[in-house]
Amino acid sequence: MAACAFRRSIASQLSKVLDLPPENLIKSISAVPVSKKRHVADFQLSVASIEEGSSSDCLVQDLQLRAQKLAEKHKEALTQALGTGRSDYWRTTQCFEERLKLWKSQLKCDAVVSEISTGPGTVNFTINRELLAKTVLQQVLKDGTEYGTKSELFSTVPKQRAVIEFSSPNIAKKFHIGHLRSTIIGNFIANLKVALGHEVTRINYLGDWGMQFGLLGVGFQQFGDKEKLKSRPLQHLFEVYVQINRAAADENTKRLAKDFFRKLEEHDEQALSLWKEFRGFSIKEYTQVYKRLGVHFDEYSGESFYREKSREVLKMLEDKGLLQKTTKGTGVVDLSEKKDLSSFSTVIRSDGTSLYITRDLAAAIDRMNKYKWDTMIYVTDRNQSSHFQHLFQILKLMGYDWAERCQHVSFGLVQGMKTRKGEVIFLEDVLDEVRSRMLENMASAKTTKEVEDPVDTAEKVGLAALIVQDFRGLLSSDYQFSWDRALQSRGDTGVFLQYTHARLHSLEQMHGNEPVTDINVACLQEPDAISVLQHLLRYDEVLYRSSQDLQPKHIVSYLLTLSHLAAVAHRTLPVKGSTPALAQARLCLFQAARSVLANGMKLLGITPVIRM
Ligand code: ARG
Repeated sequence: MAACAFRRSIASQLSKVLDLPPENLIKSISAVPVSKKRHVADFQLSVASIEEGSSSDCLVQDLQLRAQKLAEKHKEALTQALGTGRSDYWRTTQCFEERLKLWKSQLKCDAVVSEISTGPGTVNFTINRELLAKTVLQQVLKDGTEYGTKSELFSTVPKQRAVIEFSSPNIAKKFHIGHLRSTIIGNFIANLKVALGHEVTRINYLGDWGMQFGLLGVGFQQFGDKEKLKSRPLQHLFEVYVQINRAAADENTKRLAKDFFRKLEEHDEQALSLWKEFRGFSIKEYTQVYKRLGVHFDEYSGESFYREKSREVLKMLEDKGLLQKTTKGTGVVDLSEKKDLSSFSTVIRSDGTSLYITRDLAAAIDRMNKYKWDTMIYVTDRNQSSHFQHLFQILKLMGYDWAERCQHVSFGLVQGMKTRKGEVIFLEDVLDEVRSRMLENMASAKTTKEVEDPVDTAEKVGLAALIVQDFRGLLSSDYQFSWDRALQSRGDTGVFLQYTHARLHSLEQMHGNEPVTDINVACLQEPDAISVLQHLLRYDEVLYRSSQDLQPKHIVSYLLTLSHLAAVAHRTLPVKGSTPALAQARLCLFQAARSVLANGMKLLGITPVIRM
C-alpha cells in the first residue's frame, strides 16, 4: 500500500524525535483530506491522536492533553469572542505551537519527505512529488481489487469468522423497505469483511413459521392455484394471505387455521408437504430477485428450523433455573437487575408454544455450534433493538460468553417509498420501478450513449442510485425517500458514480486499454493531478473507518469526492492532443482513479457499468 510506505517512513523519523516506537505512531499519521482550499501537505501527524497508552513519554502525554484542550478552547474561543478563557487559550496555544515548531526543527526532509510544516495541532508532511505519483500509481495498478485492503492499518485486526444475518423477509407477507435496507446493508458488511480477509457466512433467516402458515394453509385450500404457486409464488401466496385474512374474521376460518398450524407443529405429512412447497418456491423466486441485486446467501435458514430446538432451549433455561412461570401460564426470563421482574422476556406462551425470541435463542446457539464464529451480526431496523438486547442478555445469563460478540446493526426508518402502482409489496416492485424510471431518464438525456443492453444498464445504474441514497447518511438516521433525488444525474448520487466510471472507462478504450506501465511522473504535477493522487492515498484509511463502525457513508463520500476530482481532472488534463508522454501519464492517473472507484462501488454492492 502506497500510503503505508509513506506513513512508515514518516513514523520512523518521528519516532526518533518523540522517542516512541514507530508502530505507535502509524495510526496518528493520516493522509490530509483533499479540500477546495488546496493543501500542499499529503500527511499529517495529529498530536491529539497519538495512540493512547503508547506514550511512555510524559512530554507526549502532556502534549496530547494540550492538544485536546486546544481543540475545546478553539470551539469556545469561536463562540465567545471575548471572555475569561481567552488568555489561557492563547497561552495553551502558544506553548503548544512552540513545541510543534521544535519538533519540526528536529525533523529533516529526506528522499521521501520534501517539506515539513506545522498547523493547529498537527505536523504536516509533503511527499516528494514525483515519488508520490510513482508510488501511488504503481501500487493502485499492481494491487488491483486488493488496493487498500492489505494496509498495515489492518495489521492489528485479527482475521475473523463472521456470521452475517440479513434480509430475512417473511413468507407470504410484504417485503417492506426495511427488508430492502437490511439486504443492502448486510451485503455491504459482508462484502467489506470478505475484502478485508475475513471468513463470512451470509444467512437469510426467513419468517417461515407461525400462525400465518395456518391461515395460508386454509387459504390455499380455498383460493390457491398450484400453477400460480409455481410461476409467481411470492405474489400468489401474498394474494392468498390477503384473501384469507379478510375471511379470518369468521370463527370457523380461525378454527381451521389453528387446526392447520397445529397439524404443522405435529408434523402432519400432508400439511408439511404443502408448507414445504410454499417455502421452496418462495426461496427459488427470492434467489432470482436477489440475483438482480447482486446478493447471494450461503444459507437459507428460518424460524421453522428451530421449533424443535427451542424446546431444548426451554429445557436448558429450566435446568439453569432461569425460567419462571407466570400466573397467566406463560414462561418468562427475568432480565432485571434486582430480580423483581421489572424487565423480562416471554419465551413460552401459555399454550406451550415457542416465540420469536425462543427460536432466535436456539438459532444463535446452533450457529455457534455449526460455524464457531468470532462475531455474529444481525441487520434489522431499530424497532427490533430491544428484541436483540433481550436475546443477547438471555444468552449471557445462560452462560454463553460469546453473547458479547453478537451485534445488532440497526438502521433507521425510510418514509415514502412508493411505486407508480402504489405501495411496495415485493422487492421486485422496487427493482422494476427504479429500472423503468432510469430507462426513461436515459432515453431523455442527451448524453446517453448507445448501449448493448439498455435494460440491464438502467437496472445497474438505478440500483447504484438506491444504494447511494440509502448509504449517504448514518445508518441510524431516518430519511424521506425520493426517486427524483436518488436518480439525479448530477450531484451526489449513484448515477453520478456510474457516469464517472463509464466516462473513465471509455477514455481508456479510446486510447487503447492496455494497462499503462512506464510513465513519466514529472508529467503529473498539476494541482488537479496531485489532488487525485492525494485522494487515492486515503483509501485505506476510509476502508479502515468503515470496517470499524460498519458505516458505509465513509466510502460513499470518498467515492463521490473521487468522482468530482476525476471529473475536474478530466476537464483540465486532456489526454487527446497531448504529447505521448503527457497522454500516457494522464491515462495512467485516470486508470488508477477508475480502478479505485470500481473497487469501492463493488464493496457497496454496486456493479459499475462501462457505458451509459
Ligand atoms: N423476519 C423478521 C422480520 O421481518 C426479521 C428477522 C430478523 N432476524 C432475527 N434473527 N430475528 O421482522
